Amino acid sequence: MQKLIIYGGTPLTGEVQISGAKNAALPILCASLLTGETLKIENVPHLKDITTMIKLLRQMGINVSIDKEFEVSLTAAQLSSLVAPYEMVKTMRAAILVLGPMLARAGEAKVSLPGGCAIGLRPVDQHIKGLRAMGAEIEIEHGYIHAKANRLIGTHIVMDIVTVTGTENLMMAATLADGVTVLENAAHEPEVIDLANCLISMGAKIYGAGSDVITIEGVKSLHSTTYQVMADRIETGTFLVAAAASGGEIHLKKTRADLLDSVLDKLIESGATIQSGEDWINLRMNNKLKSVNLRTSPYPAFPTDMQAQFMVLNSIAEGTAIITETIFENRFMHAQELKRMGACIEVEGNTAVVHGVKNLDGANVMATDLRASASLVLAGLIAQGETIIDRVYHLDRGYEQIETKLSWLGAKIKRIN
Ligand code: EPU
Repeated sequence: MQKLIIYGGTPLTGEVQISGAKNAALPILCASLLTGETLKIENVPHLKDITTMIKLLRQMGINVSIDKEFEVSLTAAQLSSLVAPYEMVKTMRAAILVLGPMLARAGEAKVSLPGGCAIGLRPVDQHIKGLRAMGAEIEIEHGYIHAKANRLIGTHIVMDIVTVTGTENLMMAATLADGVTVLENAAHEPEVIDLANCLISMGAKIYGAGSDVITIEGVKSLHSTTYQVMADRIETGTFLVAAAASGGEIHLKKTRADLLDSVLDKLIESGATIQSGEDWINLRMNNKLKSVNLRTSPYPAFPTDMQAQFMVLNSIAEGTAIITETIFENRFMHAQELKRMGACIEVEGNTAVVHGVKNLDGANVMATDLRASASLVLAGLIAQGETIIDRVYHLDRGYEQIETKLSWLGAKIKRIN
């Protein structure tokens, strides 16, 4: 199993290009199921979750070609299998995103129930409730969601909870439904808007993406398009926190500040100076790092996917921070590992109290999920001495070439087998 070795203490300085967003690319890849024509996707990040999704789509009979820039062309002329097997769904929950489009296009879909995962229970009841409201017959049998519908029917759906992939699944399904579907209490996340824009360029009629209410007028068929995936706001945020916590200065290219308002506000509150243009962000940290309280919530509030990274920043900041996690019930597993590096953190239910200490010490730590892994890398970068991170495969699911990019910024980081 691969490990990362980091020698901490170097302020990160320099320029880095941000990759395409994993959480936008995954649903956009699934949108290829909605048409027999070719969907060409640009700015796809080269990540484990993306290759797993491509493998799943190939297994369903989609013809996938990838050029040297990792631009992906997918043609779903015919679907040879309507099953997303357990072996794939258990390694990547986003596989649930094939359910809506496969059902809408082929009239049937059999997708393994994802089950719980490290960060929480993560049920998919809202995906199922929405598809049933659109007329699908759904049975849960032998751990699989088995859905059937000759043609989905547009309807009014009020989601009980704001769910990102739930909104995306139902929005994709509704593009080929008979009549108009209204999704109320929809997720506002920029990745939902990116998917909607891709679907619109394939001929879908979608209004209101990015707001509470999304209206989708079903069409008979969708067509070929070329679409460029948006920048990864969580990779952007992770690099910004790395620079702030290490006391450095970085310039991020091919990204967008307007996707990260809540995160940039917290970085400014912590003492950073930030400038930005249309497709770049610059962060300089020459003040004393101050702790910042935060509470995760659906977009545009502070993202749960940035909570672990800010816990690291707070662990060496002046003062005490209160972090409240409201999205997932078990997303503080990194706290235990950070404490082994000398951080002073008390966790009680969904709240973590972080008392800033002078510095962290390098240690052997273990990654437990994607963003927890990122936080351990950040901790290693600011700690004194050597940090060895085990189970880095979690990191490879969501960060493209992370050690190469960090090395460009002066980090002393290497991967070993
Ligand atoms: N939920 C339900 N029922 C449902 C769906 C969700 O109760 O049918 C609950 C979940 O258990 C959770 C909350 O609703 O407590 C929000 O979950 P959501 O469905 O929004 O999460 P997701 O769609 O499974 C996406 C991202 C996550 C990100 C969350 C929240 C993708 C592929 N994944 O997950 O990304 O944390 O939204 O923003 O888009 C990551 O990249 O590390 C990651 C975990």
